Amino acid sequence: MELLRTVAELRRWSRALRGKGRNDGGHPFGLVPTMGALHAGHASLIRAAAASCGRVAISIFVNPTQFGPNEDYARYPRTFEADCALAKTEGADAVFAPSVEELYPAGAATFVEVEGLSNRLDGASRPGHFRGVATVVAKLLIASEADRAFFGQKDAAQVAVLRRMVADLRLSAEIVVCPIVREPDGLALSSRNLFLSAAERAQALVLSRAVRQAEALAAAGERRSSALIAAAQRSFAAVPEVRIDYIAAVDWATLDPVEIAPPGTLFAVAAWVGQTRLIDNTILN
Ligand code: PAJ
Repeated sequence: MELLRTVAELRRWSRALRGKGRNDGGHPFGLVPTMGALHAGHASLIRAAAASCGRVAISIFVNPTQFGPNEDYARYPRTFEADCALAKTEGADAVFAPSVEELYPAGAATFVEVEGLSNRLDGASRPGHFRGVATVVAKLLIASEADRAFFGQKDAAQVAVLRRMVADLRLSAEIVVCPIVREPDGLALSSRNLFLSAAERAQALVLSRAVRQAEALAAAGERRSSALIAAAQRSFAAVPEVRIDYIAAVDWATLDPVEIAPPGTLFAVAAWVGQTRLIDNTILN
């Protein structure tokens, strides 16, 4: 597995592949963007990429521009050695791990803003967050020239923002979305789960429980978003230590709230468990 530190190295690596790809029938090249502290959710993306692409690169970069001034950038978990080992085991051919100065050269003044979408859901409570996400993913897609980029449904609003960005900027990468990987008890895997105390870990289960409640109600024929949201609220009410950020039923493409939830509606929750903000969601069928 190659370790690439600069955009020039990444581009050289990707272009060398492309040359090879042409000769052997053109296998696509897949990119898995991450911020490291890899867990089984990330691993599932790497495996999905390896299964459908001839070559896979994973990026590990804790992106400062997607963290607010009072957020957890400084204490975000950094486990680089273990991440590289996991990436290799799961089938990655290269790790791209640039410095902050490499992706944001001195004086960098160019950002990608997906208007409207960026202010919804997580973007509403984390101003500037999706601007940072869109900017860094645009940089990664342009630098890598990847054919496919793999993201988790876990960050469903992020997926909506990035799909819009790729369409608007006419980028060539295809976005592939992979299912949410959960602990056996239902908690969605997240690098931030490392921050939870034992008591908070137990409280955090309310997110997946609330999502399941809404899902079950929808499956039983309830399509009114207000009723689905009320069901999720009742789950949260049983765990008063957890503070709701949002509970929403939205069109997954536009992130606009829907009154009636057709199949394909994104039902999403975000909540504070102690100092840690967690998210979860389902796509209603
Ligand atoms: P990060 O939180 O490291 O997540 C990297 C990718 O892993 C994202 O696409 C995320 O949705 C996916 N992922 C996280 N937990 C998952 C789970 N339990 N099941 C399935 N997939 C999961 O998301 C980011 O980093 C950043 O915003 C990034 C896109 C890298 C831009 O900086």
